[in-house]
Amino acid sequence: MLDDPRVVSVFDAEEAQALIAGGAVLQRHAHVMRLRVPQNSAYDEPEFLPFTADADPPLPWDDVLPGFLAAYPPDHPDHDAAGPALIDSYLIPYTRGAALGPLICRASAIAVRDGHAYGGLLIVDRPGEGPWVCDVWRDPAPDYAGTGVRLLRWAASRLDGYDTLGLVVTVGNDAALRAYERVGFTRETTAWRLRLAD
Ligand SMILES: CC(C)(COP(=O)(O)OP(=O)(O)OC[C@H]1O[C@@H](n2cnc3c(N)ncnc32)[C@H](O)[C@@H]1OP(=O)(O)O)[C@@H](O)C(=O)NCCC(=O)NCCS
Repeated sequence: MLDDPRVVSVFDAEEAQALIAGGAVLQRHAHVMRLRVPQNSAYDEPEFLPFTADADPPLPWDDVLPGFLAAYPPDHPDHDAAGPALIDSYLIPYTRGAALGPLICRASAIAVRDGHAYGGLLIVDRPGEGPWVCDVWRDPAPDYAGTGVRLLRWAASRLDGYDTLGLVVTVGNDAALRAYERVGFTRETTAWRLRLAD
């Protein structure tokens, strides 16, 4: 999809509307956000288990999946109906570096308490952009509130040598937007990703 020459990103609302009027299909309307990362501030969180140096999760994907799927219910703007197939179509290729860029293993983690994988964060080194939040999620149960913010602060503390951490958040994903703002991310641009008419 990323290599499809008919898929373009535009950063101007009028241009996006004109392309849509001409038959382009909107794939994603999203904010690009950026955080300046602190230096020399690394700390551990006992429940955040980093990925191995080979980009394997600290426990099997089958154990990570329930919390991941619970974070993206059908009414979520980024819901994907693929369910368990997302291990092979999304989680493995994105952590293996086959999609956005190599995983930064020391700053990517699964949050585990009493054997339950209740959250996760994937950070990749995106060519031309640097560290990039590929995904962050948590089990929606109230016990785990605040996990996304904690994961992001922890990861930012482990990005010594990099200047910034970037991400894209779908317009309408207000919980994630507020979590990002709480961490200190600021909005840089708003982008419309469109597939142009054939
Ligand atoms: C993004 C995410 C990891 C943040 O987790 P978190 O740090 O635990 O934060 P919460 O989800 O508890 O909520 C963040 C804020 O949004 C608020 N919020 C929660 N649900 C909301 C909703 N439906 N609409 C608006 N605000 C909402 C919370 O009250 C909180 O506000 P506060 O900062 O003023 O206290 C978590 O919301 C999540 O897993 N979302 C689903 C997956 C997802 O969207 N990932 C990001 C993809 S870009």
